[in-house]
Amino acid sequence: MSMSIFCVSLTLVLSIFSGTDGYFEQVVRQCRYSSKDLQGIEFIDSYVFNKAEYVRFNSTVGKYVGYTELGVKNAEAWNKGPELAVELGELERFCKHNADLHYRAILDKTVEPHVRLSSVAPPSGRHPAMLMCSAYDFYPKPIRVTWLRDGREVKSDVTSTEELANGDWYYQIHSHLEYTPRSGEKISCMVEHISLTEPMVYHWDPSLPEAERNKIAIGASGLVLGAILALAGLIYYKKKSSGVL
Ligand SMILES: *[C@@H]1O[C@H](CO)[C@@H](O)[C@H](O)[C@H]1NC(C)=O
Repeated sequence: MSMSIFCVSLTLVLSIFSGTDGYFEQVVRQCRYSSKDLQGIEFIDSYVFNKAEYVRFNSTVGKYVGYTELGVKNAEAWNKGPELAVELGELERFCKHNADLHYRAILDKTVEPHVRLSSVAPPSGRHPAMLMCSAYDFYPKPIRVTWLRDGREVKSDVTSTEELANGDWYYQIHSHLEYTPRSGEKISCMVEHISLTEPMVYHWDPSLPEAERNKIAIGASGLVLGAILALAGLIYYKKKSSGVL
């Protein structure tokens, strides 16, 4: 994962509505981190009216700067007033203090995926078989799911969903491999994720999974029971009809 700028902003929106349109005053406070250590961290406090930013405090500059006539007047006044001292303290009080909390609560949190390999019905296509590799409940979002055939990556006939948000901060993803089984080969699904110290490899076991065995067992029991009932019925019917005769 590349370290892009982390940006935390707090927007105060004050609006004066006139009908469905309106006027929009926003105060946007941002902490901009250029890396995970707090080097180069910047606090920006922008005042925006109807998309036009008219005055900004930038902690690197150390004072307010105005961009419109009103903004310049505000900047002059606030740079002389108590506002400046408050803004100068925000880098420490707001940004650095929250950085640690955000790192621990969001950035440093990782949860391993639960992975399941299953055989699914292939779409009518070139191959008679399809496997699905599903990774559930991982965090954060970036993940890599690949297929291996005898240890070598397979790129063709692979399709995947996006990382899907569960809605509970966790993600899931499903990758499909369409293939023509060959005897003696080994098909595996490899999952790489920041929560794992090394890639996890799951091998496909072509013997029937337990759920399938259960289905067959239930079906077979039903068949035996049906046969017994049919036989009992037949015997009963024979006896009865011979009794009448
Ligand atoms: C804040 O000021 C510094 C120094 O002028 C500048 O390099 C930086 O881009 C400014 N940041 C923003 C968000 O305007």
